[in-house]
Amino acid sequence: METIWLYTALSLVIIILSLKFFSTRHRNLPPSPTLALPVIGHLHLLKPPVHRIFCNLSQKYGPIFSLQFGTRLVVVVSSPSLVEECFTKNDIVLANRPRLLIGKYLGYNYTNMVNSPYSDHWRNLRRLGSVEIFSAGRLNTFLSDRKDEIKRLVLKLADNSRHDFAKVEMKSRLAELSFNIIMRMVAGKRYFGEDEDYDEAKRFRGLIKEIAKSSGVSSPGDFLPVLRWIGYQNFEKNLAKFFGKMDAFLEGLIDEHRGNKNDNTMIDHLLSFQESQPEYYTDQIIKGIIMIMLTAGTDTSSVTIEWALSLLLNHPEVLEKAKVEIEAQVGSDRLIDEHDLSNLPYLHNIILETLRLFPAAPMLVPHESSADCKIGGYNIPRGTMLLVNAWAIHRDPNVWNDPTSFKPERFEGIEVEPSKLMPFGMGRRSCPGSGLAQRVVGLTLGSLIQSFDWKRISEEKIDLAEGKGVAMPKVKPLEAMCKARN
Ligand code: HEM
Repeated sequence: METIWLYTALSLVIIILSLKFFSTRHRNLPPSPTLALPVIGHLHLLKPPVHRIFCNLSQKYGPIFSLQFGTRLVVVVSSPSLVEECFTKNDIVLANRPRLLIGKYLGYNYTNMVNSPYSDHWRNLRRLGSVEIFSAGRLNTFLSDRKDEIKRLVLKLADNSRHDFAKVEMKSRLAELSFNIIMRMVAGKRYFGEDEDYDEAKRFRGLIKEIAKSSGVSSPGDFLPVLRWIGYQNFEKNLAKFFGKMDAFLEGLIDEHRGNKNDNTMIDHLLSFQESQPEYYTDQIIKGIIMIMLTAGTDTSSVTIEWALSLLLNHPEVLEKAKVEIEAQVGSDRLIDEHDLSNLPYLHNIILETLRLFPAAPMLVPHESSADCKIGGYNIPRGTMLLVNAWAIHRDPNVWNDPTSFKPERFEGIEVEPSKLMPFGMGRRSCPGSGLAQRVVGLTLGSLIQSFDWKRISEEKIDLAEGKGVAMPKVKPLEAMCKARN
């Protein structure tokens, strides 16, 4: 029975694709590799890390090319001028997001900020976010939580390394730091750490492991709807099951805060809005906001710190220069604070250079055209998925001198155009959490440089290969030797 359904659905897909191919909107499309297979199109080309595959394709087919992923037309751009065209002239048309299965569940039926289509609803969410979550004023009220989490990390590392160099695994410690920072902001609670052994924390940690597996993943059914209809590999069923558990957890968290108007957590602030505008600030909207803080705001920052530290270990001269800068500006009597960051341009350039070489979202987040438009003179039909290969632009020798070398000095005295360096994206849908990310990354990295001497665990350089995962993790979690200073 399943086979008959499969054949019927495949025939339908072929008919739809043929109709699309012969329509005028689908003429003058960007160049496309000839390797398209029946039904799946170019899906067979996708092997992680995809930004490298797309970079190779752009060298062959040019800075704009198109691919057929099952029923979806996908366009990939990889040059500053095309990015500029996408996010200035065509910014509104390209401000939509494709409806991927993940957005139905983790995106609360496409109502959260990341997955919502470009609409009044999305604009309201962004407005709310820029005032209530990401404004400098609001971020300042959570400064003591960030400082406390970083201090805990420093003390824990120092415990083992007061007398001599000790080997430390940094990936998990940095991930825990970023989750604790976000969850203290959201709900005033820590869920990671030796003392956090209560049942709720254990449950949360279990859910986070599952989130890591499912968020950012696109299901094969996103491109071949037939697979969704026949329940291929139970993908949707499993996603729905996991989402149900996560949703119940978040609802419980909100319930705990109902009536606690005096607490300074994001949930309390959002609940106070719910009292005055219950029809808009529903529990679903609040849970959607918590979900994006967890999925978009944690690994992205911790992975960036891990890459930065890895690069510094491979370039001790840069590490030394950063240490000298911190010593000159902050000294060694107190820990570095967020207000010091503006006086530490070299540290800032180290972070920029890390984000250039290892952007946590190398292909940004997929966009979709809401109307026909043109990019680079080619037709881009309505409903095309747009991917921007930021990783390729950040390493393009036509854009950067000596692009694969780690040289923070390259930013000295220059203002880089946004279309050449876009770790946080560009235009309307660019990252609203960049201010928070820069504070967390800057303060953590600065504190680690200030408080410890660092070296590699062997003569061998740190492996800088990218692994599989949403926020471009290192293939090998970072291990290093550190020794507490003073
Ligand atoms: C979107 C990067 C941290 C929340 C994005 C996008 C990128 C990005 C590239 C997509 C832009 C586009 O679609 O063109 C990063 C990096 C981070 C980081 C590199 C850290 C180093 C954060 C944090 C938060 C956050 C800390 C919140 C706590 C979001 C949200 C969106 C987004 C909500 C979706 C915006 C929308 O669709 O309107 N981020 N991000 N991000 N980011 Fe971040």
